[in-house]
Amino acid sequence: MIQSTFTGNRLEDYSHLVSQARELWDLTLPLGSNLANISALLKQCLERTNWVGFYLWEEKTGQLVLGPFQGLPACTRIALGRGVCGTAVSTQQTQLVPDVHEFPGHIACDGASLSEIVVPIIRKGEVLGVLDVDSPEKSRFDSTDQAWLERVVETLAPLWPAA
Ligand code: SME
Repeated sequence: MIQSTFTGNRLEDYSHLVSQARELWDLTLPLGSNLANISALLKQCLERTNWVGFYLWEEKTGQLVLGPFQGLPACTRIALGRGVCGTAVSTQQTQLVPDVHEFPGHIACDGASLSEIVVPIIRKGEVLGVLDVDSPEKSRFDSTDQAWLERVVETLAPLWPAA
């Protein structure tokens, strides 16, 4: 059972989140079921967020396609190098965006989003998708969020089913 008790200590709360994410993942389930539960966990644990979810890399089209998420309906396909998500894939680097209006080519799915962090999910050099978290507050995410969300993704990537 998921416990949503926060201590207010980011180190403790984030390390608890990483353990919960690992415990939630059930290798007998399809990827979509696991990512749906991880989105729900992250949405519940990350305060001041309005959209939390996944885009999955689709090899045959060379695009990201919308995966499980919590938030408003969102754009369904994002080309390589487009927007914050496509940039996270093309650079294979986390994109920490304090003000989405300053990011060239930002794709607005929810007009309330003001800041965003997108972490690429990479296994053996191959991009599997991205984790995207949006906030209605400018500069909501910092390097601590980045380090821990990267930890979440590094924990989950090895559990991804083979292509
Ligand atoms: N803002 C993202 C698009 C996805 S939504 O935020 C859910 C981007 O620019 O890639």
